Amino acid sequence: MTGIDRRRFTHGLLGLGVLSALPARTAIAEQQKLIHRAIPSSGQLVPIIGLGTVRYRAGNDPTEREPLRNALGRFHELGGSVVDTAPMYGNSESVLGDLIDGLGVRDDLFIATKVDRSEPAEARAQMESSLQKLRVDRFDLMQVHNLIGWRSNVPLARELKEAGKTRYVGITTHRSSQYGDMENVIRQHELDFIQINYSLEQRESADRLLPMAADKGIAVLINRPFGGGRIFSAVGDQPLPEWAAEFDCGSWAQFLLKYALSHPAATVAIPGMSKARHVTDNIEAGLGRMPTPEQRKMQERFFDAL
Ligand SMILES: NC(=O)c1ccc[n+]([C@@H]2O[C@H](COP(=O)([O-])OP(=O)(O)OC[C@H]3O[C@@H](n4cnc5c(N)ncnc54)[C@H](OP(=O)(O)O)[C@@H]3O)[C@@H](O)[C@H]2O)c1
Repeated sequence: MTGIDRRRFTHGLLGLGVLSALPARTAIAEQQKLIHRAIPSSGQLVPIIGLGTVRYRAGNDPTEREPLRNALGRFHELGGSVVDTAPMYGNSESVLGDLIDGLGVRDDLFIATKVDRSEPAEARAQMESSLQKLRVDRFDLMQVHNLIGWRSNVPLARELKEAGKTRYVGITTHRSSQYGDMENVIRQHELDFIQINYSLEQRESADRLLPMAADKGIAVLINRPFGGGRIFSAVGDQPLPEWAAEFDCGSWAQFLLKYALSHPAATVAIPGMSKARHVTDNIEAGLGRMPTPEQRKMQERFFDAL
């Protein structure tokens, strides 16, 4: 049995509830040994697979919410913690607030949200509304979305931090046209996090921004590790290369996540996942060996030849 087969076998056992006498999260999470990394500004350890929630929009119909509840529940059960959301993701913050409350998992989660109002009074109101929708008394991370209003919003988020209403402050983008501006903000402000797109398909952020974040001791959340899902169409139904097993990779999603996470600047990847089976698959990318620099080059050559 290979390492991956053995793990899948163990997951099968867990799925059958063989360990059901043990507390769900502790037993399963400990069994899995999900890799954690430190946030440089504090030393706090966080699991390297987070949850992107741009698709956590739903009405009040319980059947519509059930898949999201299952995905979040599975994420928590398998040891996940970092949840990234935003007021601009439809009603995702409210849906998450309800699901987190219903599952009773707030204390185990690291909740990151965003601000995108450029007028300071509106930005403050938006942050207040996010606290209410998420049903929390503080955030873990407040991020300036796509650098909107960063001149006033970064100081505002820092004020929030000083008031104990957020533990960390960050800025985000997923557009290479904003990379120059992002460098500029990093030079001017003290930040705990940046959030940026990085994937086999889009490696430009590794040219300057990821090394800059590493140099300055800024944690990095990787968004769109699957190019929004587009990369799965590029790989189609072809099998993984055999050498992917050398870094404990059993699916294309794990291949892509391990590529992003093996960049030395990466702290946490936040794939969007609204299905529990995707959570199970992606959490496995946070286990076992990561690609070496040479294996990363093999991944790039393989992907470029598709
Ligand atoms: N500027 C910003 O601040 C910014 C911009 C973009 C994104 N973000 C954040 O980053 C997160 C990730 O980006 P994204 O969601 O746009 O794109 P993504 O993570 O690159 O791709 C998500 C897509 O991949 C699918 N997927 C997930 N796991 C899979 C698996 N194991 N196998 C097959 N398909 C799988 C998802 O399906 P299901 O949903 O059906 O599970 C979804 O359709 C967002 O959710 C958001 O939190 C931030």
